[in-house]
Amino acid sequence: MSEIIRFGVIGCGLMGREFASVVSRWCHLEDVHFKPEIVGVCDTNAEALGWFDHHLPKLKVKTTNYKELLESEEIDAIYCAVPHFLHKDIYIDIIKAGKHLLGEKPFGMNSEDNAEIMKVIRMHPEVIVRCSSEFPFFPGAYQIIKWVNENRFGKIIDVEAGFYHSSDLNPNKAINWKRKIETNGEYGCMGDLGLHVVHLPFRFGWKPNSVRALLSNIVTERPDKRGDLVPCETWDNAILACDVKAEGQKFPMILSMKRIAPGHANTWFIKVRGTVFSAEFSTKNPKQVSYLSYSQGGDQAWQIVDVPYKSAYQTITGGIFEFGFSDSILQMWAAFCDEIIHKDDMKQPLYCATPSEAELSHKLFTAALESNKTSNNILLDTKEVVH
Ligand SMILES: NC(=O)c1ccc[n+]([C@@H]2O[C@H](COP(=O)([O-])OP(=O)(O)OC[C@H]3O[C@@H](n4cnc5c(N)ncnc54)[C@H](O)[C@@H]3O)[C@@H](O)[C@H]2O)c1
Repeated sequence: MSEIIRFGVIGCGLMGREFASVVSRWCHLEDVHFKPEIVGVCDTNAEALGWFDHHLPKLKVKTTNYKELLESEEIDAIYCAVPHFLHKDIYIDIIKAGKHLLGEKPFGMNSEDNAEIMKVIRMHPEVIVRCSSEFPFFPGAYQIIKWVNENRFGKIIDVEAGFYHSSDLNPNKAINWKRKIETNGEYGCMGDLGLHVVHLPFRFGWKPNSVRALLSNIVTERPDKRGDLVPCETWDNAILACDVKAEGQKFPMILSMKRIAPGHANTWFIKVRGTVFSAEFSTKNPKQVSYLSYSQGGDQAWQIVDVPYKSAYQTITGGIFEFGFSDSILQMWAAFCDEIIHKDDMKQPLYCATPSEAELSHKLFTAALESNKTSNNILLDTKEVVH
C-alpha cells in the first residue's frame, strides 16, 4: 500500500497543470511506496479551475481563496505556482498553516520578500519546504552530479551554466505578468530562469564570491492584450561572471539566463571543465552527455554517449527510450514526496532545491542588479545559510 500525501494546488496555470499530469501518471514510477493525491485547488481564474474540475472530478475543495485550502484538515501539502509578486504572502501563510510546501522559484519577487519567507521557514522546522527545479533530474545532468560527487574533475578550470529561451525575439509577443516589473520583479529573466541555472552549482558548493553582471533589455515595448504598445522594462538577458572559491579551489563560473537566445527553446545546460575530466550536458540533446577524460600527455578526445533513461527514481520506461521535460517534473515530484515521507532517509540522494539555495540566488541576483547599474564587480556575502 502506498502512503498518500494529500495536496492542494494554489495557481492552476501552466505549472499547476504539470503537477496534475504528474499525479495522473504516478504509476510510471516503480518501487515508490508513497503517492501524491490532489484533493483541493485554488485559482482566481475560473477557466483555470475548470480545467482541474474536468480532469480531476474527485476534487474536494475548489476555491478562489487559497486560505480555504490552508484551513482544510484534508490537505497535508501545497504546491504553489503563482506570479512572483504573490510568493511572499502566500508562501508565508502556507508555512504558518503547517503544510509542507513545494513553491515555485524565485521564492519571493526580490530579496526583501525572500528574507521574510526565510524568517518564517526558520520558525517552522517541522514543515518541509522546497523550491521547484527539475532539470537536474535529466539523466545527463544526474550523471554529471555523480561525477562531481566522485571528484572526477581534478582541479576545476571553469564552469558554465545557463538556461535559454527565444520566443521573446518576436517583438509582437504580447506582454504578460512575467515581463512586468510589478508582477515579475526587477530581476527580470534572472527571477524567471535563474534558480534553474544556479541549482546544481550551488548544490556542488560552488558559491560566487563576487559577480560582474551584464543585463540587457532588448525588446523595450510589447503589445498588450488590446494590441497597444506598452513599456516592457524587465531584463531579457543576463550574463553573470562569477568568481568561485570552493574547497581550496578558485575558478571562474559564467552563468547566463536568456529570454532572447535565438534558436533556443528551453535549453538548460551545464559544462564543467577540469584538469583530469570535463563534462557537458544540454537539454538541447537530451539523450547525450559528453565527457573528456585526460591523463598527462594523453589524447584530449571528447566522447559522446547516449545516456540511458535512468534518473533518480526507477520507472517503467526502458533504458533505450528518450527522457523529456515532463519526465524531469515527475522525478522532481518523486524526490519531494520521498523527502516528506522519509526525511533524511530518502531512497536516493538528490533532494529538491532548498530555501537556502533560493536565498543564495537572491543574494546573487541582487548583487547582479547592482553590478549592472554601477559597472562594478560586487562582492557577495555567502556566509553559510541553514537549510
Ligand atoms: N519549474 C519550471 O520549470 C517553471 C516553468 C514556468 C513557470 N514556473 C514558475 O511557476 C510559477 C507560476 O508560473 P506559471 O507559468 O504557471 O504561470 P501561469 O500564469 O500560467 O499560472 C499562474 C496561475 O496563478 C493564478 N493566480 C494568480 N493570482 C492568484 C491568487 N491570488 N490565488 C490563486 N491563484 C492565482 C493565475 O490565475 C494563473 O492561473 C512562477 O513562480 C514561475 O516562475 C516554473
